Parts: sequence; structure tokens; C-alpha cells
Amino acid sequence: MTSPEYLIDIGDTHVGHRLALTPERGFHIDGGSLVLPNGIQRAINEAWARFQQRVRDITDGAPYILLHKGDAVEGVHHRNKDGLSINMVDQADNCVEVLSDICRNAAEVYFCRGTPAHAGADSEWEEHVAGRLGAIPTEGGAYTRQVWFYNWGGYLVHAAHHIGVTSVHASKATAPMAELAELRATAGQYGLRAPDMITRGHRHDGTIVGTPSNNGMAWSVTTPGWQGKTGFSYKVKSGRVGQLTVGGGIHHLKNGRIRPWIEAYAIAPELERLGGNNE
Ligand SMILES: [Fe+2]
Ligand SMILES: [Fe+2]
Repeated sequence: MTSPEYLIDIGDTHVGHRLALTPERGFHIDGGSLVLPNGIQRAINEAWARFQQRVRDITDGAPYILLHKGDAVEGVHHRNKDGLSINMVDQADNCVEVLSDICRNAAEVYFCRGTPAHAGADSEWEEHVAGRLGAIPTEGGAYTRQVWFYNWGGYLVHAAHHIGVTSVHASKATAPMAELAELRATAGQYGLRAPDMITRGHRHDGTIVGTPSNNGMAWSVTTPGWQGKTGFSYKVKSGRVGQLTVGGGIHHLKNGRIRPWIEAYAIAPELERLGGNNE
């Protein structure tokens, strides 16, 4: 079977958080209440619509893989109080609604497990969401995995949720390059296949770095998320002074060449300062 030409690479949707991607019609709660999107959510939803249109335009009907790298739902993150509902069935239902179009149109859907504080201690809520969205299960029957290994037309892709974070622009490439280099060193050490591309989420920021190899360029990618700055993010410099972006990857493989690509959309700082709470 030939692999799809495109890899749509997203993560960190955090559905259920009041500053994150949410259904267009509003976040629905058991019993019938509807929480309408606030200002920052409307901006993130507009970016999500633009991203999905870019996916349609670029793929132009060609099949694509949809990869979600975790933090699909917000969960009850360190018992914080900015969730729209702490009923996880509500969060899962709304997450499925948000992701249904992009997953329905995919040739193959895969999910990685996110941070346990969001995904559930055993990633049980991501399991639930991924199963409902048609994710391809592991041999063991799980709909999510910690690490996704994929043979993409003869090139090995290695995806996972976590990666080191930094507040310094000049250091953004360090952790992604280190992770790629470690994997390739380990592969050499033990005679394993070296990955040709790795991709990570968690840091909610887009980066692409690469190095030549005897199998073409080897790439290391991180993708933006789909969430505004939470109270936690202001504890670090990038949260206080950085530009908030949302987005995802639209990677292409053709004629033996992987071309990674990140689509990122800046969210207006005035929305970020309001945090969507004071409208
Ligand atoms: Fe996240
Ligand atoms: Fe995370």
C-alpha cells in the first residue's frame, strides 16, 4: 500500500479550556447549556478554519495522514479552574465535534498521548476521543500511543508529545535537534533504523530544523498548539513577552523528498491580554 503524500501534523487542541479551540456553535454541556466562544476563542476558531482550508487547498484531494500528538482535551490540569466543564464527557464530546471534519477526510488517523494532567493519568480521555474519531489502533488495541513510528513511503517518522521548552528564540532549535541527534545516535549504536523525521508538540510553538543525511534531509519539527496563554504560561518569559501563535504542520513527501511545513497564525495581543474573560 502506498503512503498518503501529505502528513497533517497537529496537537495541543486543549478542547474544554476557556482560551482554546472550541466548537463553532459553542461548547455544549450535559443538560443543554451552551458556552459561546469568547474573543480569543473566536480568533483561534478563525485560525482553525483557515488551517483546514489550507489543508484542503494544498492537498487538493490527495490523501493525507492526520496525526494528533496529544493534549486533545484540557482535562482538569493540576485542579485548575479555567475549564469550561470538568465533566470529561463534555470535554470529549466537544473535542470530537471540533476534530471530526479533519479526521473524517483523512486516509489514516493516528493519536499520540499527551501530558497526563490533560489527557487523563492513563490517557484514558484521549483514548476515548481517538477511538471515536476513527484512529488506527496499535496491535495491542489502544487508539493512542506514547510514540508513533510510521513508515512514510520508506522514510521513518517518529512522533511523540513532549519536548523541552525554552523562552529564548535563539535556543528554540536546541531541544528538537538534540532529540533527533540522540535518536540517530541510538540507532547507530544498536543497529536500529534512524528516523528521517521527528515531530513533537507540547511547547505550543512551531520550529523546523534539519540536517543532511545519506537518506536525504532528516528533519525535526515542533508544532504550535490551539490554545491561548493560560495562567501557567505567564510564569515563563515566553508567556509574558512572546507572540501567541496557533497552527499545525502540512508536510509533503514526493519523489523521495520530505518537505516539512508549519502554518502558524498570530493571535492579536489585545485578545491575549483580555484572555477572553473580560468582554
Ligand atoms: Fe499542550
Ligand atoms: Fe503537553
